[in-house]
Amino acid sequence: MAALKEKRTCGRRCEDFGRFVWDSDEGKLMGRTPEKWVYISLYYAAFYVVMTGLFCLAIWTLMYTLDPYAPDYQDRLKSPGVMVWPDTYGEEVIEITYNTSNKDSWMKMTNILNEFLKPYNDTTQLECNTYNCTKGKYFIQKTFTAPHHTKWACPFTQSMLGACSGFEDPTFGYNCSMPCVIIKMNRIINFLPTNQTELPPYVNCTILEGEENVAKIEYFPDNGVMDRSYFPYYGRLAQPSYVNPLVAVRFNLVGEKHAKIQCRVVSHKISYENFHDPYEGKVIFYLKALK
Ligand SMILES: *[C@@H]1O[C@H](CO)[C@@H](O)[C@H](O)[C@H]1NC(C)=O
Ligand SMILES: *[C@@H]1O[C@H](CO)[C@@H](O)[C@H](O)[C@H]1NC(C)=O
Ligand SMILES: *[C@@H]1O[C@H](CO)[C@@H](O)[C@H](O)[C@H]1NC(C)=O
Ligand SMILES: *[C@@H]1O[C@H](CO)[C@@H](O)[C@H](O)[C@H]1NC(C)=O
Ligand SMILES: *[C@@H]1O[C@H](CO)[C@@H](O)[C@H](O)[C@H]1NC(C)=O
Ligand SMILES: *[C@@H]1O[C@H](CO)[C@@H](O)[C@H](O)[C@H]1NC(C)=O
Repeated sequence: MAALKEKRTCGRRCEDFGRFVWDSDEGKLMGRTPEKWVYISLYYAAFYVVMTGLFCLAIWTLMYTLDPYAPDYQDRLKSPGVMVWPDTYGEEVIEITYNTSNKDSWMKMTNILNEFLKPYNDTTQLECNTYNCTKGKYFIQKTFTAPHHTKWACPFTQSMLGACSGFEDPTFGYNCSMPCVIIKMNRIINFLPTNQTELPPYVNCTILEGEENVAKIEYFPDNGVMDRSYFPYYGRLAQPSYVNPLVAVRFNLVGEKHAKIQCRVVSHKISYENFHDPYEGKVIFYLKALK
C-alpha cells in the first residue's frame, strides 16, 4: 500500500513540475508570463551594466592615482632577506650535500649554479646594462634618463665571481672539496644599506659547527663586498634590467668535510637577529662533501 502511495506522489510531483515549467492554461513559463520574463531580463541586464560601470570607474580612479613607479604598499619589511645557492633543501634546513666521486651528484649542484647565473652572462649584462657606473657610490637617479622612460642599472657579470664564476672551473669546485656557494640579498625598493661614510655591505661567513673542517674561506668579489652602485633599486618597472649584486664564497673543506655555516650581509641597516624571520640579513646552511 505504502509503495503505491509513494508512486502516486512521485508521478504527481513530475506532473506539478511539468506544469511549473510550462503552464499552458495561464501561458506561464517557470511561473511567469514570457512578457514578464523579458522585463526581468532587461532589468537585470541594466543592473549589471551599471554595476560593471561603477566597478570599472573605481578601478580606473585607483589606477589613476597610483604611481606605477613607486610602490604604494611596500612591504613593512625593512631589512632584506638573504639566500644561498645551490638552494637544496633537506628537512627544513638548507643542506648542500654532494658526493665528489659521483658525477651526477656534483653535476646537480653545478647545474643549479649555471641556471642561477644565466642572467649574469657577461655578454647579456654588458649589452643590457651599458651605463658607465661609478663604483663605490650610490647610484641615485632622480629622473628617467635611460631609454623607454626607465632608469639605468649597473652590470653585474658572472666573471666578477672570479674563481667561482664557473669559467676557470666549470664544476664550481664540486668535483673536489672546494665548493662555491652564491649569496644573494633580496631587493628592497629605495633601500640604501649604509650611509656614505661607512663600509659598503659585505658578506661575512662564520662556521657555527665543524670549525676544524673548514681550512679556508674566500670571497668573490674581493672582501665579499656588494658595491654601492647597485643601490638603490627602483623597482621592476623603473629598472627592468636590474640584477642583484652577488657574492660567491668558496670553502676549503678538510677532515670530516662538513660544517654548519652562517653567512651574513653586514651593515648596520641590515638586521639579522629577527626570531620570526631566520632569513633576514643572514642565511644558515649545512655544507657536506661525501666521498
Ligand atoms: C659517492 O659516490 C660513489 C660513486 O658513485 C659511491 O661509491 C659512494 O658510496 C658514494 N658515497 C656516499 C657516502 O654516498
Ligand atoms: C652568454 O650568452 C652568449 C650569447 O647568448 C652565449 O654565446 C654564451 O655562451 C653565454 N655564456 C655563458 C657563460 O653562458
Ligand atoms: C667610463 O668611465 C671611466 C672613468 O670615468 C672612463 O675612464 C671610461 O672611459 C668610461 N667608459 C666609457 C665607455 O664611457
Ligand atoms: C675538477 O675540475 C677541474 C676543472 O675541470 C679540474 O681542473 C680538476 O682537476 C678537477 N678535480 C678533480 C679532483 O677531479
Ligand atoms: C653613518 O653611520 C655611522 C654608524 O651608524 C654613524 O656613526 C655616522 O655618523 C653616520 N654618518 C652620517 C654622515 O650619517
Ligand atoms: C665576521 O663575523 C665574525 C663573527 O661574528 C667576527 O668575529 C669577524 O670579525 C667578522 N669579520 C668581519 C670581516 O667582519
